[in-house]
Amino acid sequence: MRRRLSLGLAVVAVLAPLAMAWAHGVATGIVKERMDFMVTVGKAMEGMAKMLRGRVDYNPEVMRMHAATLASHGGERLTVLFPQGTLDPPTEALPAIWDDWSEFQVQAARMKVAAEAMRTAADNPRSTATSADLGLDAAGLAAASPDIVFRNLAATCQACHDKFRKEQ
Ligand code: HEC
Repeated sequence: MRRRLSLGLAVVAVLAPLAMAWAHGVATGIVKERMDFMVTVGKAMEGMAKMLRGRVDYNPEVMRMHAATLASHGGERLTVLFPQGTLDPPTEALPAIWDDWSEFQVQAARMKVAAEAMRTAADNPRSTATSADLGLDAAGLAAASPDIVFRNLAATCQACHDKFRKEQ
């Protein structure tokens, strides 16, 4: 039973990137541009996660590199990729983006603030706290452990996706 389950999970893990590659292949214009943009964002987050979970050694320099990528992909650089009504398939964007544009902008700005903070926080002591201290402001983030900053950052991805991206 256990073996079958893990095999199933392995299959899903293999197929998900394939489905993604297919979607990127058929996407065009601004939709393709922002899907590719989000993949870059996803890879930077993965790079951080690997270190924080101990799959590779923690290295503040590498953390800062990923933070710089994420900071440059937050805020307005993200929101300009969503001109009103750009919903051509295979987009996963929801029309709610333009019904609640200011909230969309807030989430994009929060992502940038958390990513910027990681450039400082990367050198802070690590923490094993399991309770997430979410919603910190820029100063709070800069003083927090990279683990907490990462959770705050991930919460911005999640909050925006929950509202504005089709369920996966
Ligand atoms: C301000 C809102 C917002 C924020 C913040 C945000 N995303 Fe997204 N993301 C979206 C939307 C909307 C889509 C769907 C875009 C489309 O398909 O046109 C998306 C799509 C994606 C995709 C799928 C790309 C593909 O293959 O099509 C990934 C991966 C992703 N986001 C990762 C992240 C990560 C990681 C973060 C946090 C660091 C993040 N996003 C932050 C709105 C956001």
